[in-house]
Amino acid sequence: MYQEPKSFFIRTYGCQMNELDTEIMVGQLLKRGLTRVHEEELADLLIYNTCSIRDLAERKVMGKLGLLGRSKKKKTLIGVTGCMAVAKKEAIFKKIPHVDFVLGTNNISDLNEVLNDVIHTGKQALRTDSAFEENLDYLAAEREDSVKAHVSIIRGCDKFCTYCVVPYTRGKEVSRPHDDIITEVKMLADKGYKEITLLGQNVNSYGKDKKESNILFHDLLYKLDQIDGIKRIRFLTSHPVDITKELMFAIRDLPSVCEFVHFPIQAGSNRILKKMHRIYTKEEYFEKVALLKEIVPNASLGTDIIVGFPTETDEEFEETYEVFKKIPYSVAFLYSFSSRQGTPAMRWKDDVPESVKEERLQRLLELHNRQAAEERASMLGNPVEVLIEKRTKTGQLKGRTRCWKKVITEGPDSLIGTLTMVTPHSFNHQTLIGSV
Ligand code: SAH
Ligand code: SF4
Ligand code: F3S
Repeated sequence: MYQEPKSFFIRTYGCQMNELDTEIMVGQLLKRGLTRVHEEELADLLIYNTCSIRDLAERKVMGKLGLLGRSKKKKTLIGVTGCMAVAKKEAIFKKIPHVDFVLGTNNISDLNEVLNDVIHTGKQALRTDSAFEENLDYLAAEREDSVKAHVSIIRGCDKFCTYCVVPYTRGKEVSRPHDDIITEVKMLADKGYKEITLLGQNVNSYGKDKKESNILFHDLLYKLDQIDGIKRIRFLTSHPVDITKELMFAIRDLPSVCEFVHFPIQAGSNRILKKMHRIYTKEEYFEKVALLKEIVPNASLGTDIIVGFPTETDEEFEETYEVFKKIPYSVAFLYSFSSRQGTPAMRWKDDVPESVKEERLQRLLELHNRQAAEERASMLGNPVEVLIEKRTKTGQLKGRTRCWKKVITEGPDSLIGTLTMVTPHSFNHQTLIGSV
């Protein structure tokens, strides 16, 4: 038996989907009457919303959870949610016996119920369904930000890339009804939000599981573009195979849809792409990028890369390196392959030595940093439209351009939430610095 907690602390690991799930859980707990605190020591309930994407992500949380044994003395409730909850299930209780509940990504709507169970019985509770029930109250989300918001449009992933845990930790694709999405975005617009980011593991699959509604991703964009007050629409993430010509036209024609496309290639060798089950060749990828550049000449591109996939040779890595020379990405997330339990790639020996992975990573990073610096240098002196989001801890205004470049400038609070023209005069590693 536990007492009803009065305060909670929640920590998020992983991607934007987890951030949004955290905001929804925060909303549920505030509704329940709990107060949010930002120090673990002050909380009666601790929740860790975890990520399983790479081994390091899991080890960080397991280490953290292990250390919490001590706070157990004062009867703090401890919950593990998110992707690792689904990946490890009861194994979490075995390894960390002081965890009270494990709640899967598809069960966050059950948070209050599971809490009641644990409080009344004093026993550990586990709820990790593989299918997503469409009863999640997105409108309850308590958002961190007041200018931009994440909006979930599709959960899960049906792609099954051989290295990836997501199809197992988030289940199959379930598109959210478009009316619900529109209602939420209208509500956000009424509250003064200016930018929304549509979220899904593969937003471009939107609607394919709901043939009867006859609304695909680009159709949804046309509908959302009409909502007054929303100045910018972004989306994350896309699978290259599902990036359509219709989507490219939507990016070109809809004023609110930003000209930034995350277009993750993962690897530059066709043999590795095949082994990854990415279902496109390098040539098909280049063709699509060329088409996008033709339809939306000012589009900027992002990518994700995995180096050191099992059996990747030096020559095959060079092909990935060459991709960067051909396409100077403005954003690149670079990762070393990490073998994940339950994925097909786990059957293959993780045979590229860590030192080689690290070397490949460093080479790509250097090239990318150089290219990104050149891109920023080319922007100096030309005014760009920045949505001012907030004041930084050091007192400057921070915002982003349409193509996702971070910009820092000086100015009054009244600029927060406005589209402001800023002329960049210099830049550092990640950020353009300019004046209004
Ligand atoms: N749905 C997104 C990816 C989500 S995971 C997409 O397809 O783009 C984010 C990134 O993590 C992936 O794009 C991939 O580059 C990387 N990643 C996933 N599994 C990995 C693994 N086992 N080892 C290393 N990187 C991995
Ligand atoms: Fe993982 Fe591939 Fe799905 Fe992306 S598309 S979430 S990399 S399985
Ligand atoms: Fe991690 Fe799950 Fe996101 S594994 S990256 S939190 S979908």
